[in-house]
Amino acid sequence: MTEEIVVIPGDGIGQEVVPAAVDVLQATGVDFEFVEATAGDHVAEEGGDPLPEETRDLAANADATLFGAAGESAADVILPLRDAVDSFVNVRPARTYPGVDALKPGMDVVFLRENTEGVYAGHEARLTDDVSTLTRVVSQSASERLAEYACEFAPEGFTVAHKANVMRETDGLFRDTVQRVAEENGVETDAALMDALAMHLCLRPEEYEVVVCPNLAGDVLSDLSAGLVGGLGLLPSANIGEERGLFEPVHGTAPDIAGQGVANPCATVLSAAMLLEYLDYGDEADDVRDAVEGVLAHGPRTPDLGGDAATADVTNAIVERL
Ligand code: NAI
Ligand code: MG
Repeated sequence: MTEEIVVIPGDGIGQEVVPAAVDVLQATGVDFEFVEATAGDHVAEEGGDPLPEETRDLAANADATLFGAAGESAADVILPLRDAVDSFVNVRPARTYPGVDALKPGMDVVFLRENTEGVYAGHEARLTDDVSTLTRVVSQSASERLAEYACEFAPEGFTVAHKANVMRETDGLFRDTVQRVAEENGVETDAALMDALAMHLCLRPEEYEVVVCPNLAGDVLSDLSAGLVGGLGLLPSANIGEERGLFEPVHGTAPDIAGQGVANPCATVLSAAMLLEYLDYGDEADDVRDAVEGVLAHGPRTPDLGGDAATADVTNAIVERL
């Protein structure tokens, strides 16, 4: 069976790391057909919509989409794309690798980030010259859907990040709902205040395996963890919906290195491994992860990891290992 994958490189290093991940997907032997679509600043600069209707529709109808990053238009591209695939959870693994200098060796945490609401629900207003406001949305239904996913993902238990001591109604509802669903499923949880959790992750990350987070907290804690494990060039993510998935590196367009051919492709290649897993190609997903691990351990490495290799060198080395 041919698997049709929508591919949206976007802006900046998205144009470099997405083709790298496509090369790796092609080397797995799975019969893929790639449909390339445009989105991002470069489309807006030519007078178009940063997320063209056609691109949105392609993602909304594909089993799986691989996305790079968008620049200034990120919010106008990625948020509607996540909506288009109806993805209620963003899975963000952050782990260390042998051979990569990390602030915290031995870290292996997966963040399950709520992906539809919280402060990213888009209800912002400028009331006066002096004051702007933001309405934070938390629903029982979205929290339940996330919790059910978390129970399947982590039957051995997980941590719930929240700030319910201050945001009693919103994070109170989030924490209580997630913990109730977990209890109904016989899954153990502990709740952690997200600010203290940020510190604990820095001091003792090995104590955490799976952390379920409200939207903004998941965004911040996963970037923080990227710093602990060796940089954004290593963190993949999967936006999971009931019927479709959207796979993207956690990083953005990296304007400081875009166009130089030195972006680390590993985050996007590992996102492609999550795509393989989602489409039930578990063995191929493992092969890709093993190949990335081998390259991280033995080189070549891009400059963000202290090496001097180009994106293409790392990609070729991953493909060779496959
Ligand atoms: P960024 O993730 O693009 O870059 C942060 C730092 O990490 C930079 O120093 C960059 O060089 C480095 N970095 C990131 N990915 C790397 C890789 N694969 N290899 C080597 N180094 C890497 O975040 P920043 O600078 O905050 O945002 C830049 C632009 O990206 C902004 O316009 C922002 O809106 C957009 N952005 C888009 C996202 C998306 O489309 N999902 C997510 C985050 C940011
Ligand atoms: Mg982010």
